[in-house]
Amino acid sequence: METVLLELRYLVSVLVAVILGFAIGYESLLLGATVPAFAACADNAPNGNTPSGGNEQTAEEPEAPADPGEGDSPAEPEAPDDPGTPDTDSNILIVYFSAQGHTEAVAGYIAEATGGEIFELVPADGYTSEDLNYNDESSRVVQEYENEELRDIELVSAIPDNWESYDTVFIGYPIWWGIAAWPVNGFVTANDFTGKNVVPFCTSASSGLGDSGNLLAGMAGEANWLTGHRFRSSASADDVRGWLGDLGVI
Ligand SMILES: Cc1cc2nc3c(=O)[nH]c(=O)nc-3n(C[C@H](O)[C@H](O)[C@H](O)COP(=O)(O)O)c2cc1C
Repeated sequence: METVLLELRYLVSVLVAVILGFAIGYESLLLGATVPAFAACADNAPNGNTPSGGNEQTAEEPEAPADPGEGDSPAEPEAPDDPGTPDTDSNILIVYFSAQGHTEAVAGYIAEATGGEIFELVPADGYTSEDLNYNDESSRVVQEYENEELRDIELVSAIPDNWESYDTVFIGYPIWWGIAAWPVNGFVTANDFTGKNVVPFCTSASSGLGDSGNLLAGMAGEANWLTGHRFRSSASADDVRGWLGDLGVI
C-alpha cells in the first residue's frame, strides 16, 4: 500500500513538473512570438508615423546631397577662373561712337571675342534722326560737314577709367562723307596713346576705311596705329571674329 502511495506521489510530482515546465515553455513561446510581433509593429510604426518616418528619410538623404554640396568645392575651382579672365583681357579697350547702332554692334562683337572692356563715346548733345539727315542741307551733320569748326563735339566723357592699363585700343566709328564721324576726334585728342597699339575699325554703307585711320593717327601723336578694317553696316559676329583671327588677337 505504501508503495502504491509512493508511486502515486511520484506520478503527481512528475505531472506537476511537466505541467509547470509546459507552462513556462509556452510562456516563452508566447513571449518569443510577441517580441517579433512588436518588432514588426515597430517597423511599421515609423512608416505609420509619417513624421518620424519622413524625418528619417529627409534627415539622412539631404545630408547626402549636403556632402556633394561641400563639393561646393567645385565652385572653388571656378573662382580662380573668374579672376583669371579679366586679368588677361583687361589690356584691351574697345572705344566707339555709333549714331545708329551698327558700329556699336561691331564693338560688341569685338568685346565678346576678346573679353575687352567697352567705352562708348556719347556726345553731350546727342544726334537725332533729323540731325543725321544728310539729304537735308540745313541738318546738323550737313552743317558740321560743311564747317569744320563745328566738328568739335563735346563728349559726356572722353577719358576712360584705367586708361594706362590698356595695351591695345580699338577705335570704332561710322564713316561720314568718307572720313571718321567726328565725335571720335575729341577722344583721340584727349588721350595719350604712347606705347599703345591702336586699331581703327568702321562701318559704312559702301565706302572703305579710306584715310580715316591715318587722319586719326595724325591727331593722336605717338602710338602704333594698325591699318584697321571697314565692315559693312550689317556685319556679323563671324565677320568680326574672322578679322580678329587674321589680326592674331584671338
Ligand atoms: C551723316 C552720314 C554720312 C554718311 N556718309 C557715308 C559715306 O560717306 N560713305 C558710306 O559708305 N556711308 C556713309 N554713311 C552711312 C554710314 O556710314 C553707315 O550707315 C554706318 O554703318 C552707320 O554706323 P552707325 O549705325 O554706327 O552710326 C553716312 C551716314 C550718315 C548718317
